[in-house]
Amino acid sequence: ELGYFTYDPGFMSTASCRSDVTFIDGDAGTLLYRGYPIEQLAGQSTYLEVCYLLLNGDLPSSDELHDFSRIIKEHSMLHEAVRRFFDGFRHDAHPMAIMVGVVGALSAFYHDNVDVHNPEHRRIAAHRLISKMPTIAAWSYKYANGQPFMYPDNNLSYTANFLSMMFGVPSEPYQPNPVFVRALDLILILHADHEQNASTSTVRLSGSSEANPFAAISAGIASLWGPLHGGANEKVIRMLEEIVHSDKSVEDFVARAKDKNDSFRLMGFGHRVYKNYDPRAKIIRKMCHELLEEMGDMGADNQPLFDVAMELERIAMEDDYFIERKLYPNVDFYSGIILRAMGIPLNMFTVIFALARTVGWISHWNEMMQDPESRIGRPRQLYTGYPEREYRPIEER
Ligand code: SDX
Repeated sequence: ELGYFTYDPGFMSTASCRSDVTFIDGDAGTLLYRGYPIEQLAGQSTYLEVCYLLLNGDLPSSDELHDFSRIIKEHSMLHEAVRRFFDGFRHDAHPMAIMVGVVGALSAFYHDNVDVHNPEHRRIAAHRLISKMPTIAAWSYKYANGQPFMYPDNNLSYTANFLSMMFGVPSEPYQPNPVFVRALDLILILHADHEQNASTSTVRLSGSSEANPFAAISAGIASLWGPLHGGANEKVIRMLEEIVHSDKSVEDFVARAKDKNDSFRLMGFGHRVYKNYDPRAKIIRKMCHELLEEMGDMGADNQPLFDVAMELERIAMEDDYFIERKLYPNVDFYSGIILRAMGIPLNMFTVIFALARTVGWISHWNEMMQDPESRIGRPRQLYTGYPEREYRPIEER
């Protein structure tokens, strides 16, 4: 029966809830957002349209999308007092640390008027989060680089606005490269939701106590940061750069990944659910190839990373160790090469993942809070400790 926890080393790998949002068939390599295949959304939709779909359950009409886009733009500014939160961080603070802190701090600005049982309050909280994440993410980057914060420009599209706040400076006009806008918008679509992954389960569990949604999303950001989860995209690039600059062969690194005495793992490989090729990785690999081709010399220093990634994939896909364990490239394996080619620094990769995933997190939170049967999450355990025993005074120990 759903909701009953059986012991599983993967802890929350058993069915922890019912959901209409996203469907994954790990064996077939299928991913559906509200029933629509990720391949069709990637090829025809925009991230903002996917946000509407995930939040509301179906694709919008043109009027609905126009209204949704206007509402999201209305919330893109941050309270001026939020700027001061950034000043409390060291300049070398990882932007994910800033995201956890600043998003959680938004609870202080909206705590009083968020009744989590009020659908209108939940809707406004969702719009605020989707709208403010690009501003917070861009300002995290600006703060780390000692550059002035750029305000949102609501004449731009959602994704172009983020790139403008990230790379624009007050002294120069900045026009986001349309190729980069499209590539980033596609990456945001592919990362928007993924069923009950670790960070979404964190949001559900923390939100199930009726905590403020901004605090619950901050908990999700913290979970996503881990290198086994959203932090993998940053680790993949560090791995590919190590291989490119090493005098060891790709085969040597694949051998290390199989060696249980070696902590080296092929980052961007394997998945708790997909035991087939991650459909998102297929789409990103194709986009990576097209983007580097389109960039020509501009993308030249990313080509060796892409070549090594393709070589790694080819070798691993022919190796019994990976075949037996059904280890395939996942969404993180190629995404970093595209972000790097766009000039996005390594420590912002997981921030981009968190920006994209916010709509998934808040859609699951909303689904949980609108369920009249929703209760506080309370996972159980198999106790393996001591049986009951008597306390002994310290003199006897
Ligand atoms: C994301 O859940 C989601 O949906 C997440 C995500 C999302 O959109 O939210 O899809 C995003 O987090 C993708 C995953 C990104 N993480 C990485 O790429 C990190 C590298 N991958 C591994 O750490 C691992 O594959 C996990 C964490 C992704 C999955 O771990 P599992 O399912 O618990 O698998 P496991 O650790 O039990 O490994 C099973 C076997 C082990 O070998 P044996 O003990 O059977 O001999 O496969 C081996 C592992 O050693 N293995 C690897 C490997 N991943 C698993 N060996 C080498 N390289 C790897 N990458």
